[in-house]
Amino acid sequence: MARPDNDIPSTLAFGSRAVHAGNTVDKGSGAIRTPIVMANSYALPDDPSNVSWSGTDIPLYTRNSGANQIALQEKIAALEEAQDSVALASGVAALHAVFFTYLNTGDHIVVADVTYEATWRLFTELLPQKFGIEATFVDAADPESVRAALRTNTRIVHVEAIANPTTKVTDISAIADIAHAGGALLSVDSTFTPPPLYRPITDGADLVIHSLTKYYNGHGDAMGGAVVGSRAMIAPIKSNAMVDVGGVISPFNAWLISRGAITLPLRLTRHLDSAQQVAEFLEADDRVAYVAYPGLPSHPQHEVAVRQFGGRGFGAMMAFAVRGDSDTQNRFVANLRMITSAVSLGHDESLIVHVGTDGPRVVAYPEPFRTWGHLRFSIGLEDPADIIADLSAALDETVR
Ligand SMILES: Cc1ncc(COP(=O)(O)O)c(C=O)c1O
Repeated sequence: MARPDNDIPSTLAFGSRAVHAGNTVDKGSGAIRTPIVMANSYALPDDPSNVSWSGTDIPLYTRNSGANQIALQEKIAALEEAQDSVALASGVAALHAVFFTYLNTGDHIVVADVTYEATWRLFTELLPQKFGIEATFVDAADPESVRAALRTNTRIVHVEAIANPTTKVTDISAIADIAHAGGALLSVDSTFTPPPLYRPITDGADLVIHSLTKYYNGHGDAMGGAVVGSRAMIAPIKSNAMVDVGGVISPFNAWLISRGAITLPLRLTRHLDSAQQVAEFLEADDRVAYVAYPGLPSHPQHEVAVRQFGGRGFGAMMAFAVRGDSDTQNRFVANLRMITSAVSLGHDESLIVHVGTDGPRVVAYPEPFRTWGHLRFSIGLEDPADIIADLSAALDETVR
């Protein structure tokens, strides 16, 4: 018999949780899938005078939590092995929600020197200029630099498990210990490392951020973001950043991402296997100047990645360049026949971006990225032999 509610056994393996968590039998229709509920408002109790209008626990108004958002949040919390999560309109809305909720004027934050561009801009321009928040950028691959940057008013240490775009890896449990000893929270953007590859909560992170737009959804057709953590830490994000600032996820996007997340474990297995094969192929080719991929022994944090990700894989994002100038990188991309030149990552199709020789806007943009430039490559779900054949043919066309 179909389950009337979401009481799935806590012993279920990851793949089974991905299927069942957050899905309930619809009481009205008896449908065994959570339907798309496009309503803005929900029926009030007979006496609504005690309802909290900024509450997020009962269905009230979609900006306070809609049926599809709640279903998605249950699935994400189950997959992350966390008490709770909040799903928002985009990954950037999720990042902002964390900083808006947990930083006040005059507070200090330690931020990794390689982060997604919007995070970089939040802490180089927007939050310092508008709200007087001070940020120190550090090499998060060196735990001692994080320790040295802590101040008495440091509230948060923010890092990416594998950093966009250089693939620098952070040792989360080491940084969690340092942040907590200094009285700060650790927030981890784990967009490049979704579960079951990694769950930063289990290594001591207080808040974990995902761009659901990427691997969770996986099909390149919906935007969303999530913050994962304890019930006590997620509650103020819901009541402040969601209800009062308003970056809520649309019911349709929440439904699409819930559907996409069902196959997250299956997709991720393919992404990770293919990425390792592709990285090894590129590194073995003399026409390729460098490959930055945590699964290669040549990667500076390979040992940390082996330990941290427990041999499950190393993500499906890499950076590389063809030997040659900026024009060479553009010609190489133009010569690809299957791999698509577009931003974003974690989609079903492989995506490549020529980031440019000046580099993306991160604080530390090291060698060899500066000399050769940088192709950011998201390995998709195509047959790995086809991905390698496309790269190989484009190399032949470009470097004659
Ligand atoms: C690491 C990381 N965090 C956050 C984001 C922002 O996510 P979104 O585009 O869903 O706002 C991205 C987007 O590329 C990302 O790569």
